[in-house]
Amino acid sequence: MTDRFLGEPCPPDLQDAGERLSVDELRARQLERLRTTVRTAYENVPHYRKALDAVGFVPDDLRELSDLGRLPFTTKHDLRENYPFGMFAVPREQVVRVHASSGTTGRPTVVGYTRGDIDRWADLIARSIRAAGGRAGDVCHVAYGYGLFTGGLGAHYGAERLGCTVVPVSGGMTERQVDLIRDFGANIVMVTPSYFLSILDEMDARGLDPRDTALRVGIFGAEPWTEQMRTEVEGRTGMHAVDIYGLSEVMGPGVAQECVESKDGLHIWEDHFYPEIIDPVTGDVLPDGSEGELVFTTLTKEAFPVLRYRTRDLTRLLPGTARPGMRRMEKITGRTDDMMIVRGVNVFPTQIEEQLLLIEGLTPHYLCVLTRPDRLDELTVQVEAAPGLTDHQSPAAELSHRIKTHIGISAKVEVLPPHALERSLGKAKRISDLRRR
Ligand code: DLL
Repeated sequence: MTDRFLGEPCPPDLQDAGERLSVDELRARQLERLRTTVRTAYENVPHYRKALDAVGFVPDDLRELSDLGRLPFTTKHDLRENYPFGMFAVPREQVVRVHASSGTTGRPTVVGYTRGDIDRWADLIARSIRAAGGRAGDVCHVAYGYGLFTGGLGAHYGAERLGCTVVPVSGGMTERQVDLIRDFGANIVMVTPSYFLSILDEMDARGLDPRDTALRVGIFGAEPWTEQMRTEVEGRTGMHAVDIYGLSEVMGPGVAQECVESKDGLHIWEDHFYPEIIDPVTGDVLPDGSEGELVFTTLTKEAFPVLRYRTRDLTRLLPGTARPGMRRMEKITGRTDDMMIVRGVNVFPTQIEEQLLLIEGLTPHYLCVLTRPDRLDELTVQVEAAPGLTDHQSPAAELSHRIKTHIGISAKVEVLPPHALERSLGKAKRISDLRRR
C-alpha cells in the first residue's frame, strides 16, 4: 500500500462531542435520553402504550438503564401490524421523509423522519465517514441504492454534511460506475461489498488497475461480509475496507461504524442507540461478550422511536477501542433468518465465504443452494471459476474439504464458468432454498 492510500484515523479534535464522552458521561446521557424516548413513545404511539400497559410499566418506572430489560421487545411483526404510519410518534405533517424496507415477505415496513431526525442522521453518517478515514474535500462515490432503501440517501446527506463532493450514482450500470470513479477521482466509495466486487470485475475486464484510481476508503455494509473479504478487497485495490452497519427500523446506515485505525469491529454510536444482546430463543439479556441477537432502543429519534427492537442480527458486544466510551459490535455473522440448518448443523453463508476466499482459482461470488432430495438436506455451494481456470475439479474438492473440516458439514461444490452467478446491484442473495418447493 502506498501512503497516498492511507486513510488517516480521525484525530480527537475532528471528532464530535458525543464521540468523546467517557463511559460515565455516556451512561448518564443515555439514561436521560432513554427516559424521554420511553415517555414520548408511551404518550404518542398507541402500540407502545398498549405494550407497556400490558406489562404494567409506566415511563416513571424507568430509573436506571437496567430497567429497560423490563420493557417488551418490538418486532418486525409489530411494525407490519401498524402499516403504514401507525408507529409514528409525531403528526404525519412533521414527517419530512419516509423510507421502507423492500418487503419481500409481506408488507413493507415504513419508517419516518422529522427534520431533526434527518439532521442527526446526517451528523452520524458524517461521523462514520470520518471514522472510516474520509475527510471534508474528498470525492465520495455513493453506489448504495437511492430510493425507499435507506442506503443511498442516508450516505448522501452525511457525506454532504461532512463536506465531501458527493457523486450520487446509486446502484447499477456498472460500466458507468467505473467511468465515474476514474474520471471524477473518487476517494471514497460507499457501496455493498458484493456490488463492489462487480465494480472490480468490470475494472479487471477493462484492464484498469484499481490502484491507479484515487480510491482510498471503501465503506461497505448493508449485508454481512467477512475478514477474508476485507483481505481480498484490500489486496486487490490498496484501499481500506471498513464496515458500516445499520437498519431502516433503527435509522438506516450509520448506527455503527468501524474505525479505520483499528478495523476491529464496529463502534456503536451509543449516544443515539442503546444496544443489548439477547438469547434469541429465551429473550434473556446476555452479558457483554456473549454471542446473541442484537436489540436496539433509539435514544434521539423523534418520528420513529423504537423500544427494544429485535434486529435478528447475530453478534457480540465488546469494549470500545478507537472510541473508548462506545462499545463495539463484532462483524455480523448472519441473521437468525439466514441460518441454514444442514442435517442439524447451523451454518451461515459467511462461514462458507471464509473458506471460499482462501482458495485459488475461484472468484468471491457464491450462492448456497439448499435441496432435500431424499428427505435429507443437501447443500450445494455454487461458485465461479476465475477467468482462465481450466481444472475445476481441484478447487471444488478443496472447498468441499475445507467446509467439511472447518464447518463440519458435507457440501457439494459446483464450479460454474466465470460470470455465471447472478450479480446483485445491492444486497447479494446468498441462499436459494429449494426445499419447500
Ligand atoms: O441495509 C441500512 C444500510 C445501508 C446499512 C447501507 C449499511 C449500509 P435495511 O435494508 O433495513 O437497512 O437492512 C438492515 O441489513 O438488519 C442486517 O441484517 C443487514 N446489514 C446492514 N449492515 C450490515 C453490515 C440497511 N455491515 C439489515 N454487516 C440488518 C452485516 C448488515 N449485515
